[in-house]
Amino acid sequence: MSVKEVVATQLESARVRSFELLAPLSDTDLVRQHSKLMSPVVWDLGHVGNYEDLWLVRALGAAGVRPDLDPIYDAFRHPRANRPTLPLLGPGEARSYVGDVRGRALDVLEQVEIDDPALPLLGDAFVYRMVVQHEHMHDETMLATLQLMDEPGYRSVAPPPPPGTPPSHHEVLVDGGTFIMGAQADAWALDNERPGHQVDVAPFFIDAAPVTNGDYAEFMDAGGYGDRRWWDDEGWAWRQQAGLEHPQFWHREGPSSWSRTRLGWHEDLALDEPVQHVCWHEATAYANWRGKRLPTEAEWEKAASWDPATGRKRRYPWGDEEPTAVRANLGQAHLGPAPVGAYPEGASAYGCAQMAGDVWEWTSSVFEPYPGFRSFPYPEYSEVFYGADYRVLRGGSWATHPSAVRTTFRNWDHAIRRQIFCGFRCARDA
Ligand code: AVJ
Ligand code: FE
Repeated sequence: MSVKEVVATQLESARVRSFELLAPLSDTDLVRQHSKLMSPVVWDLGHVGNYEDLWLVRALGAAGVRPDLDPIYDAFRHPRANRPTLPLLGPGEARSYVGDVRGRALDVLEQVEIDDPALPLLGDAFVYRMVVQHEHMHDETMLATLQLMDEPGYRSVAPPPPPGTPPSHHEVLVDGGTFIMGAQADAWALDNERPGHQVDVAPFFIDAAPVTNGDYAEFMDAGGYGDRRWWDDEGWAWRQQAGLEHPQFWHREGPSSWSRTRLGWHEDLALDEPVQHVCWHEATAYANWRGKRLPTEAEWEKAASWDPATGRKRRYPWGDEEPTAVRANLGQAHLGPAPVGAYPEGASAYGCAQMAGDVWEWTSSVFEPYPGFRSFPYPEYSEVFYGADYRVLRGGSWATHPSAVRTTFRNWDHAIRRQIFCGFRCARDA
């Protein structure tokens, strides 16, 4: 396949997925704001079309489909809480809008010269890969919105994930020394992943698997939420203010027994699955209670990507080969995390399992630019978020599409956020 055919196929499969995701929803559920933290999902759909109109149509020299919609779908102009008050396209209008934009984007694709030196956006078809990832990111965001619906409105037919046998070793040792952090020559890498650069880390231990619901319940049974010692000042203040007593979507059934709600459906809590829906403060308190800490972003990336035998970096924990069903739980294949130990073939060179897929993993690091960072193609993707307000998450979740997961991919969110599909693993100094 030519590069143009590859990106056209990727655009098409992103769209198929968006429509599949929204198909089970009524118009009322598409338009309603299920939580102040999230947009009505019909906003996400319109925004996906608008982003494509900006980047695959107008930025490449063609006339835009609906430039008049820019103010409505500009994520920066309107915080999520206010989006229901906008004159949004309705569900049917939004569907035809994204279709019209796609039609024009494909016409433009036929005309452009990939690698036109006058248009840096086209080098390696970068702008197409950026737009593909953008649609998939919003698909994950929409799923996080559906998770907040209070009615069991969303039922998937996804098969269950494979069973797992927990790894026999709890931690692995990662040797000290330099490795390459960030992307070197990766056409999919977004601006914040670049440039690749040498980083020196001291030796450390890191958990071979994410912290499970069962592990986390031990922290709760030990009174972890009420014990000031495990929380930093900001975390304790937030715990008090928000009344945090357990992960989001958990329900107490007995003194130490729990159930949970997923996508509105009530079910038993699977103790062997990675814990989800804990904020950075809860993850940090748990790690402190265990006598550990969260890994830094650099430690996480080294454990996931570095092959000490070859001195080379891997695009995925297992190597450079694309994800498959036996390597990682990605792309909404199962609509939930798999038990720990379900993907032995997906382990990193150091022996860390499930570092791609299942749950986004909190790191201790603040979201900062790499040395030599250059914003490309627009500062609102990464640059405006750099600084102390955001912590980095790595690895992708069960809801993340493979094209938006690699060992260099960086996600970020506020330390208090937990409606995303986030969990963590612990580390400690060696
Ligand atoms: C990378 C997930 C933090 O959703 O805020 C979507 C991705 N950027 N549209 C977000 C993004 C522009 C971003 N995250
Ligand atoms: Fe966006």
